[in-house]
Amino acid sequence: MSHTIQGFSKLSKEEKINWLTQNFLSQNPQAESILKQYWNTDSNLQQLHDEFIENTVTNYYLPLGIAPNFVINNKTFAIPMAIEESSVVAAASKAAKFWMSRGGFKAEILGTEKIGQVHFMYKGGESELRILFEASKAELLADLKPLTQSMEKRGGGITGLQLISKTEALEHYYQLHVTFETLDAMGANFINTCLEQLSESWQRIFASWSSKPENTTLQVVMSILSNYVPGCVVRAEVNCAVGELSEADGIDPQEFAEKFVQAVRIAEVEPYRAVTHNKGIMNGIDAVVLATGNDFRAIEAGAHAYAAKDGRYSSLTHAEIRNDQFRFWIEIPLALGTVGGLTKLHPLVKLNLEMLGNPSAPQLMEIIAVAGLAQNFGAVKSLTTTGIQKGHMKMHLMNMLNLLEATKTEKEQAISHFKTHKVSHNAVQQFMEGLRNTVEK
Ligand code: MEV
Repeated sequence: MSHTIQGFSKLSKEEKINWLTQNFLSQNPQAESILKQYWNTDSNLQQLHDEFIENTVTNYYLPLGIAPNFVINNKTFAIPMAIEESSVVAAASKAAKFWMSRGGFKAEILGTEKIGQVHFMYKGGESELRILFEASKAELLADLKPLTQSMEKRGGGITGLQLISKTEALEHYYQLHVTFETLDAMGANFINTCLEQLSESWQRIFASWSSKPENTTLQVVMSILSNYVPGCVVRAEVNCAVGELSEADGIDPQEFAEKFVQAVRIAEVEPYRAVTHNKGIMNGIDAVVLATGNDFRAIEAGAHAYAAKDGRYSSLTHAEIRNDQFRFWIEIPLALGTVGGLTKLHPLVKLNLEMLGNPSAPQLMEIIAVAGLAQNFGAVKSLTTTGIQKGHMKMHLMNMLNLLEATKTEKEQAISHFKTHKVSHNAVQQFMEGLRNTVEK
């Protein structure tokens, strides 16, 4: 078949680019130089990035922005955010500043439990299997000791091991369900290594089961951590007297608070709205997760599963007015690490963690939950007052100007003009045409 290749990974980076441009980008004479212009001039730094993954050809930039003025549990943070969406950092910064003078954000950890499972198919009597499991639990845990010892010394390790029958959902399906405390590590490698050892031990114990009933079989299907971590949860909140919600834009604070609470209630009961509402939360969360070298796919998967934990997809944030107090909060599972993974390897990740005061994993959970809450506050505030497009398009203006290849002076004129005019693709295009025509005449 044309355009296919054997042994691509064995080619040098230069050869990979040649193959790629010849086979898939032959119409674009600039393809090679575009790929190479993103290489870092420091060859050691470039090699470090090359080696994060397989088949690297270049780097893919995301802007790293800073959202300052986050007061969390009475401590001030400047939060690093890696994200491509124009308005996210601005919205986070605005919400941080708003709450800075209203007591700041409060955050607390509700739990730090991680989960992993050995999934297996067992044909035989359940009660006999339970007897075997209970009799061999100590042996299973003893086999894990060499792997868990150093984590235990620091206060972590395995916190629970259960045999669970899932046969009502799927015939013959059982699992060894394990809970872990992984301290400052996200723990994926630790958990998966433990689970693979557990699987091996369990199969050995089963094979040598002296009183095994006839025709009893066990087959391990897989051993893997779960990204659903409803026991690794953080809560962050803001609150103030309703009267304190007033701001320069002249909205009545009581009306604003009530509309805001309604908007959150809508997201609680209406899945179509909840998904977008939570997407806005994840704008803030993912940006900090990425900037701190954590796995945003794991965080996304876990957050959305948690949003559906009561059987219907719902909002991750909640709001209420009680005794004239406005309260807005988030509860979200965040399995994060501040050691291991990229944390010591990626120079920017290291710097971002340093900027946050080298937090423990629970402290980072608090910071990131706050970033999500702030983002959601900004979005819902805009949605229920000015509408989202005003702020969003203002931030997107620079992208439109860059697409139109605006010069520095043109940009300055456009920014000044659109301070008092509504931004839209058409309006920007017309303004630029107008500018350019006047100059030509
Ligand atoms: C856009 O990225 C996010 C929002 O749609 C979130 C929301 O609607 O709450 C503005």
